[in-house]
Amino acid sequence: MMELDPTRLPRHLAIIMDGNGRWAQERMLKRIVGHQRGVETVRMVVEQVSQLGIPYLTLFAFSAENWSRPPAEVRALMALLKRFVRSETSRMMRHDIRFNVIGNRAELPDEINQALNETLAKTAANRGMVLTLALSYGGRQEITHAAARIAREVAAGTLRPDQVDERLLAQYLDTADLPDPDFLIRTSGEMRISNFLLWQLAYTELYYTDINWPDFTITELYRALSDFQARERRFGKTSAQIQLTQRS
Ligand code: FPP
Repeated sequence: MMELDPTRLPRHLAIIMDGNGRWAQERMLKRIVGHQRGVETVRMVVEQVSQLGIPYLTLFAFSAENWSRPPAEVRALMALLKRFVRSETSRMMRHDIRFNVIGNRAELPDEINQALNETLAKTAANRGMVLTLALSYGGRQEITHAAARIAREVAAGTLRPDQVDERLLAQYLDTADLPDPDFLIRTSGEMRISNFLLWQLAYTELYYTDINWPDFTITELYRALSDFQARERRFGKTSAQIQLTQRS
């Protein structure tokens, strides 16, 4: 296994898990089989990332746009999700993982929301890694929703327009309690953000691999993290400025 520097891991890792359908189609299998295999990769990644001591992991599990997939695939994904949440709760407890959900939960079926609420409540006091699933999530929808809430408060007189700055807007996003991701991994060769965490990814290091999500292994995860460790993050500053602050 590749060596990683434990002092230079991302604080928040976000992942766009893509390529389940293609993985299945390449093997003449139904797309849903790809999603089933994808869940196994999710289990492995959750366990590894939590063991590495990375405090925040966010997975794009279902986009606001995914509702327009064939109804049978949507149903199957919802069923997988419910089973995952139910079956992983005890593992989350063992690893001290706190479960979290972002996205438009009002669009999810009641039984899914029920299962999510149970796991959210059970894991609420855990102090280890925060595992966030983005469900029925869209970055533009999230920002629009935040803007609408702010507008209502301004109209009601509980907020002044001059109080609206970046910090305030960030507090109205679903991710108010999460730091911005340091590192984004996207599998299956697509080089897009696809409406994921639009606001939060402003300074995130992006990583793409051709591997489809069901084939994403521990070695691939370590490869990605070691690539992150080789990068210098400048946040708009010069390289010399960054080296100065690292030395001080
Ligand atoms: C992308 O593959 C993946 C998804 C749309 C959903 C991701 C879902 C899982 C990994 C399983 C359920 C998740 C959890 C957390 C239990 P795709 O279907 O877009 O693949 P394609 O681009 O090859 O068609």
